[in-house]
Amino acid sequence: MKNITFINNKFVQHNKAKVSVEDRGFLFADSIYELISVFDKKIIDKDQHLNRLKSSLKKIKIKYKFNKVKFDKIISKLIKLNKIINGYIYIQITRGVAERKHEFPNSYQPTIVIFTKHLSIKKQIYDKGVKIVTMPDLRWLRRDIKTTSLLPNILSKQLAVEKNAFESWLIDNGNITEGSASNAWIIKSSNTIITHPASNKILKGVTRDTVMKLLKTNGFKIKEKPFNLIEAKNAKEAFLTSSTLSVLPVIKIDNYNISNGKPGDLTKKIMNLYNNYISKNKSTLSKELKIA
Ligand code: PDD
Repeated sequence: MKNITFINNKFVQHNKAKVSVEDRGFLFADSIYELISVFDKKIIDKDQHLNRLKSSLKKIKIKYKFNKVKFDKIISKLIKLNKIINGYIYIQITRGVAERKHEFPNSYQPTIVIFTKHLSIKKQIYDKGVKIVTMPDLRWLRRDIKTTSLLPNILSKQLAVEKNAFESWLIDNGNITEGSASNAWIIKSSNTIITHPASNKILKGVTRDTVMKLLKTNGFKIKEKPFNLIEAKNAKEAFLTSSTLSVLPVIKIDNYNISNGKPGDLTKKIMNLYNNYISKNKSTLSKELKIA
């Protein structure tokens, strides 16, 4: 069996996994998601991702009895079936299929989709670092929810790509909030590491949290506070974090070179800390789940 996907309590061939055109996830992006990375067969920060999934369900009031143990088992089964060594697990839960009305249906069955993908690690971008372009943050004010309603994110990422950059950093009220699909960090000349505080203005990245813990336990100076474009362009170093990208050095913001256009020394140390953390990750696959 090749490339198996979990959909509404069944394991099926990926290309046979279908949802209705009346699914509220499709019609309204009335849905939430998680993306969990797999490095060297290890599921990274699984608990934190599943906890955030549960909290997203609560925040958009999807009525669903979330069973973490069951999800854990489904994920493990998919990783084994699809032989994922490096890649990710994608989970999406929608408010189900119903007649197209904006208000919630009286009763509904959430649609659950879980699939996996292989990813190859592109070493070059970590050696060279990446370029950022900045632009206005056009998103809504509940960016803390990991919803699939991502149109402003994809438009800003596309604009970055069209400008030959890797990622966009979004500016709200003069401050950089985060990237289109990653959290943004700068390092000041004092060696203080700064990232936007966790609030409704950013997605509180799981990688961000892990990196923050690693920095604190390793004696780095760190501050969660908003920073503006001038601070970013004058930064000694910069980097971004996400589940798929880990810690990625930033070497240019708009037309300004950061750390002389090369990954900075502190950033390299932080990359190493994070890479050591994931290689020591003890996550094991759960026992098989008997469904379908
Ligand atoms: N994106 N901010 C935004 C807007 C994101 O979409 C993401 C992740 C992050 C980083 O979160 P984490 O460290 O938990 O992955 C921050 C995922 C990878 C995606 O949508 O593909």
